[in-house]
Amino acid sequence: MKFPLMRNNILREDLDAVIAHLKQDDPMLTNGANVRAFEQEWSEWLGVKYSVFVNSGASANLLTMAVLKIRYPEGGDVIVPTLTWVSDIASVIQNGFTPIFVDIDPCTLAMDSQQIISQLTDKTRAVFLTHVQGFDGLTDELLTELAQRNIPLIEDVL
Ligand SMILES: Cc1ncc(COP(=O)(O)O)c(C=O)c1O
Repeated sequence: MKFPLMRNNILREDLDAVIAHLKQDDPMLTNGANVRAFEQEWSEWLGVKYSVFVNSGASANLLTMAVLKIRYPEGGDVIVPTLTWVSDIASVIQNGFTPIFVDIDPCTLAMDSQQIISQLTDKTRAVFLTHVQGFDGLTDELLTELAQRNIPLIEDVL
């Protein structure tokens, strides 16, 4: 039996909106009014103050780590999963941080909370968790521990 990794979910109305946009005299292709509107709508849905949309997941990874570097120019450790995309790890290294690998929980496919907690030290600058295929990789225990230690949690949802 075969299970597709994903199905195309682009609707006809999405395509029509793109075509209508491109048919304008001088269509703005990046950071236009629609992007601003979507960022605002997304922020409201998520219950956060701000959102920044970028062109790709790899750019989002790089941007996040670049922001972390502003806070920790001296570097440090970032806890990363053994199951993720290469740009999650590359962005950590590219910004001068050291990736500390933590194995996944086979039930959630995300990093095992207990193993993350056991790897936290005073050099830990962030936990960079990937939620795989729509599974929820968070536990209350992890969230509480990170909040107590004031360690940022960065989530990549694939
Ligand atoms: C978890 C995760 N992060 C980042 C990326 C990179 O996304 P993109 O191909 O849009 O750069 C992928 C791509 O599959 C991914 O699975």
